[in-house]
Amino acid sequence: EKGGYEHFMIKEIYEQPKAVRETMTGRLAKDDSGVTFDELKWSKYDVAAIRKIAIVACGTAYHAGIVGKYLIENLARIPVEVDVASEFRYRSPLIDDQTLTIVISQSGETLDTLAALKEAKNLGSRTLAVTNVVGSSIAREADQVIYTWAGPEIAVASTKAYTTQLIVMALLSIYMGALKGALSPEKIHQLCQELKNLPGQVHELLEDVEPIKTFAQQYGFNEDVFFIGRSLDYAVALEGSLKLKEISYIHAEAYAAGELKHGTLALIIEGVPVIALATQKDVYEKILSNIKEVKARDAVVIGVGLKGDTELAKYVDHTIYIPATGKFLAPILSVIPLQLLAYYAAVTRGCDVDKPRNLAKSVTVE
Ligand code: F6R
Repeated sequence: EKGGYEHFMIKEIYEQPKAVRETMTGRLAKDDSGVTFDELKWSKYDVAAIRKIAIVACGTAYHAGIVGKYLIENLARIPVEVDVASEFRYRSPLIDDQTLTIVISQSGETLDTLAALKEAKNLGSRTLAVTNVVGSSIAREADQVIYTWAGPEIAVASTKAYTTQLIVMALLSIYMGALKGALSPEKIHQLCQELKNLPGQVHELLEDVEPIKTFAQQYGFNEDVFFIGRSLDYAVALEGSLKLKEISYIHAEAYAAGELKHGTLALIIEGVPVIALATQKDVYEKILSNIKEVKARDAVVIGVGLKGDTELAKYVDHTIYIPATGKFLAPILSVIPLQLLAYYAAVTRGCDVDKPRNLAKSVTVE
């Protein structure tokens, strides 16, 4: 049932072109004119009534929520806060009937996320679940549901669920942005075209994984790895770091690159691998200067940039290029080399990839 693959995780990584395509099918207009959600059917008044959005999730789904905040705030101009469910539940959140609470959960069974959803409902919030499992507890509890069509995810480490959660966040942002009048038809068209290109681009990325395998073998026995990025690249850094930790047991940390000099730089010493994401044009010069900072301490830097970037290679030791796309969708592509890096590092170290120690696929206890 692993379809010829050695592990479920790598099978699921390779299922991403299909998962991403299916999550957009029927939602993205064929002529790129916009996004529809038959399961929502919101009017412009429905969207205008949302004063604030609270996104609540755990783990990888929380990282999708961080990307969601950025996309919704930029494209739909609605304020968004993001919390991990176990914090949200106990901090008496300021949620009311003008709030839309979005919970994200692959399994739809995560106890803390379900409890946070119930708490939001009690406080009068409208609720929307983004989940991969039809009829799951979270799907049943929420007022409305958007399904990610990733197909069953078996490996403990979430991969295709995450990329499809990002697709839903992008679609939802365009949907709300259009209803709010926050996006021009040209902008909508451009975003839709970029979305449409994604499945092919994900496929392209998965065609040549040899360089990533080599990095994993070369650095797989280091005990500490750092991920740095700014803006959406920081959100992806968090996810790359979690993936590496959970399956290869390498200690990894993700930092907003601008925070380095507020403490972490002390840990950067000769030979420490630093994975620097540089896909965001508006902070590109800033990340280059952070790369210089870590290079000055003799870190080994692997830069992740957009194809066509001729600058990055001058500053880093190794490069990984992702197909060029707009800044909002770059995370859907840039996370894939990081998933592969975690996978091959775990394989190199002989770890049980699909069933990492101490972890369960679905966390139904507190
Ligand atoms: C990481 C991972 C976990 C889950 C988290 C939430 O690879 O799989 O961090 O993302 O336990 O699970 P769901 O999305 O099922 O609520």
